[in-house]
Amino acid sequence: MLFTDVIRNKRDGGALSDEQIRFFVDGLADGSLPAEQISALAMAIFLNGMSFDEAGKLTLAMAASGTVLDWSAESLDGPVVDKHSTGGVGDKVSFLLAPVAAACGCYVPMISGRGLGHTGGTTDKVESIPGYQSMPDFELFRRVVKSAGCAIIGQTEDLAPADRRFYAVRDVTGTVESVPLITASILSKKIAAGLEALVMDVKVGSGAFMETEERARELALSIIRTAAKAGLKTHALITDMNEVLGYTAGNAVEIRESMSYLRDEEREPRLNEVVMGLCAQMLVAGGICDDQAVARARCEQAVTSGAAADVFGRMCAELGGPTDFVDKFDKYLPAAKVVRPVYAEGILNTVNTRGVGNAVIELGGGRRKVGETLDLSVGFSGFAAIGQRLDKDRPLATVHAASAAAADKAANSLLAACRITEEAVAARPVIVDILTS
Ligand code: URA
Repeated sequence: MLFTDVIRNKRDGGALSDEQIRFFVDGLADGSLPAEQISALAMAIFLNGMSFDEAGKLTLAMAASGTVLDWSAESLDGPVVDKHSTGGVGDKVSFLLAPVAAACGCYVPMISGRGLGHTGGTTDKVESIPGYQSMPDFELFRRVVKSAGCAIIGQTEDLAPADRRFYAVRDVTGTVESVPLITASILSKKIAAGLEALVMDVKVGSGAFMETEERARELALSIIRTAAKAGLKTHALITDMNEVLGYTAGNAVEIRESMSYLRDEEREPRLNEVVMGLCAQMLVAGGICDDQAVARARCEQAVTSGAAADVFGRMCAELGGPTDFVDKFDKYLPAAKVVRPVYAEGILNTVNTRGVGNAVIELGGGRRKVGETLDLSVGFSGFAAIGQRLDKDRPLATVHAASAAAADKAANSLLAACRITEEAVAARPVIVDILTS
């Protein structure tokens, strides 16, 4: 078979045959397909779509392109459950939810992604912890999940390798925002991770790949229906991404905020709502609780008792990070050379959150091309919330940059991404909807 025929078929609006899908996935996994052919097919799929059936077959083929984990031999005394987000700006939910869910009795083998388009990646963020092995072998991963209750790692060579290659190409070719491609990308990793249940955080808004509620719902339903066909029980929350989630956006700055959350020192309300909402859903989907309110109370208790912080500390140490990271994170995390406030006058009315994500990329905190090394110290902290009044005492945010020139540029990009007016703004709910299978 010639791969140009596969591209031409999809370019002309045809459906890929089972054989063509297998040929594509094999070529992704063994590295034989060149990036230009992968990107041509990605763009053809992006423009012409895929049927539910094609997307399901692509998902299963990518899941089977490497190792598929099986937890049944581990005699775990709780459900193997995970959460995945479709990607946002300032989304540090994984660092909070995985230890909270583990402290409540779940086992969370979290295989995360790197930055994609304008969105940050959990794997990049966790790599700002010195010594933390984000790509452990399966033996270590398995051991840490079993003993700490959760392990947050990146996509290793052997887990859904076809998605890993495809993801890296989509990241830099403007082909992310496609319902079948996001469905196949996310579910291939989750099916390969051997989960019993999955909770999806489908983001909607200016910082999400799905900018309208209609598109977010379409993606959520595509994921739920495709997962059900593969025997994976999935619940989805549609959550608001019309502003940065929490106070920070970047890599090390987000880990700093996460430690302060887990130590129960400061929990940004919208972030807390998303963490608690998703986590309660995980306990219900995993069969630990029947009732959302009871599940939520348990999650809350996991934070206030310090149990979730203990889980994070154990996971970090067992994966090679500092043994006192939760207590002394500031000593370990990289700090930017230039840290300065960005001032504005008025009420923060709207945020082009994609523009904020792009400003993080410009600072060096995200990738412009495949394989680029990141500056993990840069980003923004102290973000104001929509509706907040800004003045000389309350800046819009603080920029963390490698140089004064980079800080100036990022401050200008940030200001350009924010609309500041004198009108009062009504608060929007952060959890837009909950969909179950
Ligand atoms: N997250 C993924 O893992 N894949 C996508 O395509 C988008 C978000």
